[in-house]
Amino acid sequence: MSTENTARPSSSIHGIWTKRWTFILAASGSAIGLGNIWKFPYITGENGGSAFVLIYLACIFAIGIPIMIAETMLGRRGRKSPIETMRDMIAASNASGFWLIIGLMGTLAGILILSYYSVIAGWALGYIPKLASGEFAGVTGASANAIFSGEQGFLSDYKTLIFWHSVFTIVTVYIVGKGIKTGLERAVRFLMPALVLLLLILLVYSAIEGDFAKGAQFLFAFDASKLNWNSALVALGHAFFTLSLGMGSIMAYGAYMPQQDSIAKTITLVAVLDTAIALIAGLVIFPLVFAHGIEPGAGPGLMFISLPLAFGNISGGAIFGTLFFILVSMAAWTSAIALLEPAVCWLIERFKMGRQKAALLLGGIAWVLGLGSVFSFNIWQEYKLMDTFTVFDGLDFLTSNIMLPLGGLFIALFVGWVMKPEVVDAEIDMQNSSLRTAWWFVLRYIAPAAVALVFVLGVYNKFAS
Ligand code: PFF
Repeated sequence: MSTENTARPSSSIHGIWTKRWTFILAASGSAIGLGNIWKFPYITGENGGSAFVLIYLACIFAIGIPIMIAETMLGRRGRKSPIETMRDMIAASNASGFWLIIGLMGTLAGILILSYYSVIAGWALGYIPKLASGEFAGVTGASANAIFSGEQGFLSDYKTLIFWHSVFTIVTVYIVGKGIKTGLERAVRFLMPALVLLLLILLVYSAIEGDFAKGAQFLFAFDASKLNWNSALVALGHAFFTLSLGMGSIMAYGAYMPQQDSIAKTITLVAVLDTAIALIAGLVIFPLVFAHGIEPGAGPGLMFISLPLAFGNISGGAIFGTLFFILVSMAAWTSAIALLEPAVCWLIERFKMGRQKAALLLGGIAWVLGLGSVFSFNIWQEYKLMDTFTVFDGLDFLTSNIMLPLGGLFIALFVGWVMKPEVVDAEIDMQNSSLRTAWWFVLRYIAPAAVALVFVLGVYNKFAS
C-alpha cells in the first residue's frame, strides 16, 4: 500500500483529465493500427475463427493488460528510453544485467516490425488513389481479388509498392524527427473518432449487404475443432502486437505519463478500446467475405479485397472508401511513430545524437529491411526459409510470435519477482486492494506460466508439423 498517495498534491479535475487524455490518446494511437483492421481479421480467418478469437480475448485480458500495466509502470518509473530505463531499474534492484534484454530486444523488435509495417501501410496509401479514381465501382469478389493479387495486380508491381513504402517511411521519420509530442495529440484526437465512425458506417453496410449471421457466427460461436498450439501462439503474439506490448513502446510512452494518473485504469481503457476496434473490424469484414465467396483464410490481402468490394458497391463508396484508407494510413502512422520512438530516444540519450538524425538513420535501416517484405509478395515469393517463411512471414513470426511474447514474459518476471514490491506498488498505486492482490498474482504466476506454455508448445507445433 502506498503511503505516498495521500501525500500527493491533487491537481484540478480539469488538469487531471486533460493530461490523462493525452496519454490515453497517444497509447491508443500506438495500439490501434494495422493490427486491428488489417491483421486481426486475416489471422482470425487463417486460424479458423471463433476459437481463435476466444483465446485472443483471454490473452488480452488475462495476460496482456496485467503485463501492460507492468510495462507502463517501468516507463513512468524510469522516465527514459526503454534501454536506459531498464539499466536504471536493474541498478535500483541490484539485479543481473540479463534483464537489459527487455530494453534491447524490444528496441530491436520495433525496427524489425517497422520494416514490414510500413510496407503494409504503403498498401493502404496506394489504395487511396485507387478508391478515389472509382476503379472499384461495381466490382465483384473475383475482380477485387484480381486488382489486388492478380498477375498484373497491385502486389505484382514492386516499384509501386516501394514508392508507397518510401512515402510512409519518410513521413514517419519526419514526425518522429520533429518530436512525437507535437501534433500527435491533435492528430489522434480527430483520428480515433473519425475511424470509429467510419467503421460503424461500414458495420451497418455489412449488416445489410453481407451475410452478417455467418460472419458473427464465424467470430463468436466457439468451435474448438480448429485449434492447435500454433494458433494459440498466434493469438498470444497478436495480443502483444495489437497492444504494442512487450517491446518498450508503451514503456516509452509511460515515461511521459503524469505522476497522478492511474496506470491500471488508463491501460485497461486503452486495451478495451483497442479490442473493440478489432472486433468491429472483424464484424465488418467477415459478413462481406461470406456473402461474396471470398476465402476467409485469404491471408494478408483480406482487407484489401473485401473492403474495396463493399465500397465499390455502395453509393458514395468512392468517397467513403478513400476516406477509410486515409484513416487507416493515419492510424498506421500513429503506430509507426511508437515503433520508432524507443530506438530514437535511446540514440539521443546514449550518443547525444540529434533527434532528426537518429530518426533518419533508423528509418533508413527499416526502409532497407522493408524491401525484403516488398519482394515477398512478388519477385521473391517463391523463396521460403525452411519451406515456410517468406521474408515478410519470417519477420512477422519472429517479432510477433517470438520477440514480443518473450519480452512480455521477461517484463512479468522482472516486475513480479526482481523489483522491490514496495517500489512497484508505490508507482502503480492501485487503490482497490483486491484488484492489487489479483494483479500481483496474475503477474507473478499466471502470466509467466501461460506465456511460457503457449510459447513452447506453439513454437514446437509450428516446426514439428
Ligand atoms: N499496435 C499496433 C497495431 O496494432 O497496429 C502495432 C504496434 C505498434 C506494435 C507499436 C508494437 C508497437 F510498439
